[in-house]
Amino acid sequence: MKWIEVNSYDEMSKVAANIFTKQLQEKPTSILGLATGGSPVGMYEELVKRQQAGQVSFKDVITFNLDEYVGLDRKSPASYWTFMHEQLFNHVDIKEENIHLPNGKAEDLAEECVAYDARIKEAGGIDLQLLGIGVNGHIGFNEPGTPFESLTNIVELTESTRTENAIYFDDPKNVPTHAITMGIQSIMNAKEIVLIAFGEKKLEAIERLKSGIINEDFPASQLLNHQNVTVIYGGTK
Ligand code: F6R
Repeated sequence: MKWIEVNSYDEMSKVAANIFTKQLQEKPTSILGLATGGSPVGMYEELVKRQQAGQVSFKDVITFNLDEYVGLDRKSPASYWTFMHEQLFNHVDIKEENIHLPNGKAEDLAEECVAYDARIKEAGGIDLQLLGIGVNGHIGFNEPGTPFESLTNIVELTESTRTENAIYFDDPKNVPTHAITMGIQSIMNAKEIVLIAFGEKKLEAIERLKSGIINEDFPASQLLNHQNVTVIYGGTK
């Protein structure tokens, strides 16, 4: 695991954007794994600037997002589909048909989970996966206790995660109770992973990851078994 300590959120965003820029320049047909949340907003903003300046293109890029809420219409303001379009997709030259998020409104959710992993495989597998980390060590919506071998699945959100995510909803009661998320093994299948975390709140999770102890109680610890992970972190002293 490669550790890069940064001094600001802005620096974290730029360092992460540099890794994505290099990836897109070396392989314009890259398959990217993307995340939502507060951590990647600055990186997406940076990538939009670089695309508009002609330094990178998403024209032949295929994306797969980590997760989506169950039961929310994708056009809902709080859906991850909307988030990704507002933060990135609406501002770059990506083709709509190359954008993938799990469908939280699928009639058969179990089938949607299997199909999502199959779509990733069919596309050739994820070249570069972006991750944030939850204060409890979750990656995607894989909460503590999730088996490391999990593939895309339906999860019940913990109260702490629902509280954290309530800021994206007009009423905390409207935060869905379930989500569909790529599993830990689905994430581990990526060729390269970048995890970004900035701020005091993430201190404990970063320290726990640094401790090197691999345990299903701390989902992100499985990343220690991956050959190509960069953690960009800071604001934690
Ligand atoms: C987002 C996701 C989550 C977040 C994590 C950190 O798609 O799967 O695991 O990455 O909850 O969220 P932020 O960045 O908002 O602190």
